[in-house]
Amino acid sequence: MKRPVLALSALLIGAGVATAEPTPAGKVQFEEGAVKASLTGQAGDVANGRKVFKNRKLGNCLACHANSDMKDELFHGEVGPTLDGVSDRWTEAELRGIVTNSKKTFEGSIMPSFYVVDGIGRPLKKFAGKSILSGQQVEDVVAYLMTLKEQ
Ligand code: HEC
Repeated sequence: MKRPVLALSALLIGAGVATAEPTPAGKVQFEEGAVKASLTGQAGDVANGRKVFKNRKLGNCLACHANSDMKDELFHGEVGPTLDGVSDRWTEAELRGIVTNSKKTFEGSIMPSFYVVDGIGRPLKKFAGKSILSGQQVEDVVAYLMTLKEQ
């Protein structure tokens, strides 16, 4: 009876140790637009991702994307595609890549790059030199996007 318990605690301790340092925005590794590794080594928080998504000062994703999961919100933009069922169209790594730097997937996209330090896609001066979202906020938004499945 003892062994399985020991094995389980070893596994849990191992998972704790594996937690990686945050990846600085300038050092994110892209593979054809996708980013495989978590930016922070921490799992994304779906509930917080949902808040970041609709917060006008953070993701402001609704300015350009419709999302039936947020029917109660007043305004949904139509500049970008609806995000209903988005996790059926893209993998988690692809979604992380799109939210981090949309230009790596969609050349010349007007969608802001939420986790880059330099370059284009910076809508406001106060964000100069700062990414719009933190690495963990990107992870949270990606976790939320992964819950959006075809109805
Ligand atoms: C200024 C408008 C704008 C904002 C704000 C914006 N996007 Fe986009 N997004 C686009 C456009 C436009 C596309 C389509 C790709 C292209 O042609 O550039 C797109 C594409 C996408 C896609 C791929 C969708 C598909 O099915 O092909 C995802 C996922 C996405 N956006 C997520 C987000 C998230 C999450 C946010 C908020 C953190 C966000 N976007 C904010 C304009 C925007």
